[in-house]
This record gives sequence, C-alpha cells and structure tokens, in this order.
Amino acid sequence: MAPPTHFKLNNGSQIPAVGLGTWRSEPGQVRQAVSFALKNGYSHIDAALIYGNEHEVGQGIKDSGVPRENIFITSKLWNTHQPNVAEGLQKTLDAFGTDYLDLYLIHWPVRLVPNESSDLLPVNPDGTRSVDRSWDQSETWRQMEEVYKAGKVKAIGVANWSIPYLEELKKKWTVVPAVNQVELHPFLPQHALKEWCDKHGILLEAYSPLGSQGAPLMSDPVIQEIANKNNISAATVLISYHINRGVVVLPKSITENRIISNGQVVALPDEDMKVLNGLAAQGKAKRINTPLFGWDLGFDDWYKQ
Ligand SMILES: NC(=O)c1ccc[n+]([C@@H]2O[C@H](COP(=O)([O-])OP(=O)(O)OC[C@H]3O[C@@H](n4cnc5c(N)ncnc54)[C@H](OP(=O)(O)O)[C@@H]3O)[C@@H](O)[C@H]2O)c1
Repeated sequence: MAPPTHFKLNNGSQIPAVGLGTWRSEPGQVRQAVSFALKNGYSHIDAALIYGNEHEVGQGIKDSGVPRENIFITSKLWNTHQPNVAEGLQKTLDAFGTDYLDLYLIHWPVRLVPNESSDLLPVNPDGTRSVDRSWDQSETWRQMEEVYKAGKVKAIGVANWSIPYLEELKKKWTVVPAVNQVELHPFLPQHALKEWCDKHGILLEAYSPLGSQGAPLMSDPVIQEIANKNNISAATVLISYHINRGVVVLPKSITENRIISNGQVVALPDEDMKVLNGLAAQGKAKRINTPLFGWDLGFDDWYKQ
C-alpha cells in the first residue's frame, strides 16, 4: 500500500506528511529553495523565527505562485517571546506577509530573558544562557490557546517537549497540542514519547531526519544495506521510515535535485522497519542536536535503550 501523503491533526485538519525544513538555509538560498519546492510537489514549509530567514521564506512562497490556502506553513514561537505570544507571532506573520499560520509551535519549553547581550540568544555575564527556570510553561500555552481561538493560527503545538513536560502541561491544557516536533531518526526513535503522544492524539514530527548538517546518518552501513536492498537512496530510507510509522518528516535541503528526491516516499517492508526501529537499542542510540538549555528536553530515555 502506498504511504500516506497527509496525516490528520487532532483539530480535524490535514497536514502534508513531508515538509521542507529551513534551518540553516541561508538568506539568498532559501527563497529559491522554497519556491522550487512548492512548484515541485511540496505543500508544507517548516520555519521558525530563530532561523533568521522567515522574510526570505515568505518571498519564496510568493515567488512560487502557489495560492496561500494550498500551502501548510508552520512556524515557532522563540523562547524570548514566551511571555508575549501574540507579539512573537506577529513578527512571524509580518515576515511572511500572511495573516495566519497553519501550525504554530512553542519552540522549546524554556523561557529566555533578553538582555543587553542579545534579544534572541541572551547570555548571563558568566556565559550561561539567560534561562528563566521559574517561568510557567502553562502560561505560554494559555497564550497559544488565545491566538488559536482568535483564528491567527489554525493549529497549535509544541517542539522539544519530553514526557515529563507534557505531563505537566496536561494538567492545564484546554486545547491538546496538535503536534510535538522533536529530533527523530532510527538512532533516536523515541518509542516511549511516540506511545505517549499517540495515546493523547498528538502527532509527532521528525526533525533532523538525515542527522542534520551534512546528512551523516546516510552513511550508516545498515541504512545503506536497506537502501540497496530496496533499490532506493539512503535519504529515501531515512525519510520514508517516519511516514511508515505515522510521523511527519521535515528534511531540509537547498539543493534542487535533493528537494525533489526527498519528496519521494516509499512503503518499507515490515522487516526493514523492524530493523530500523531496533537500531538504537542495539547500541547506536545517538542524539545529534545538543540543546542549549537542558538535557531532558524533547527526548525520552534514549541513552538507556
Ligand atoms: N524544532 C526544532 O528545535 C528543530 C531542530 C532542528 C531542525 N528542525 C527542523 O527540521 C528540519 C530538518 O532538520 P535539519 O535541518 O537539522 O537536518 P536534516 O534535514 O536531517 O539534514 C539536512 C542536511 O542534509 C543535507 N541533505 C538533504 N537532503 C539530502 C540528500 N538527499 N542527500 C544528501 N544530503 C542531503 C542538506 O544539505 P543541502 O541543504 O546542502 O542540500 C543538509 O546539510 C530543519 O531544517 C528545521 O526546519 C527543528
């Protein structure tokens, strides 16, 4: 059976199963990449204010000529805007030149306090991040619910939330997050987090599916073997893996032929899914992104697998 092209969110709307990532897509490259992707089968763009390129992403969207209503746009509330969600959201809407988002996520369950060192990535005099640990994430979520109810975003969710953070939020939420976007790949399958999110109707989204910059996971021998066996590329294995397990995937590329090939998803045989799902437990557990704010964020106990 062909893999699904869309998944259903808990608010009833549809989300395209593959989205184009835009982290580290430089201004000057991302405009063309977004426009090219939208003209070649993509209808989902994953962006964030902290990526510093939302204006160019917006230009790429316009260049494509694809009507706004045919595009699913996600962005993320940056940590320094947690006390004022509407203000953070407005910056993103202005950068895109649109009046709504399809999905808005809290980027990290962490508030950063801006100071003279930086508006977006502030540090304390000793060089540590200027984190406000006392900030109540349920207040940020309450404001997310407000912009959702006001119709400025069609769905709301979180990113980098591990089970303990979600359990805490659950005590206060009136709108269940539609999505949790986390690092996911065969070396970090996060089975416990997936089970928790499935149980609560929260769709997982996989970031860094190729292992992030330089796509290092593509050279793993087991991934290569599965690719050869199925006559597909290692990238297609790593991307298809998620859709075969019911997870949205967000490969990033600014390279035209890769943008096209990353959109081609296949059904993987059960035996290969079993191998991919078991790699971390067999000693390959690996987390690529080191969060700047704490080790417990967005990850289940991968190191114990
Ligand atoms: N919520 C969060 O905290 C968070 C964190 C990380 C990422 N994300 C999202 O997830 C997206 C994807 O993650 P990511 O950017 O970390 O990494 P990724 O998608 O795993 O990998 C991107 C890297 O792989 C290369 N690449 C792409 N397709 C390839 C192919 N077919 N063959 C060989 N190399 C290929 C890209 O190079 P070229 O671009 O040069 O082609 C780039 O260097 C991000 O862009 C962002 O939208 C979210």
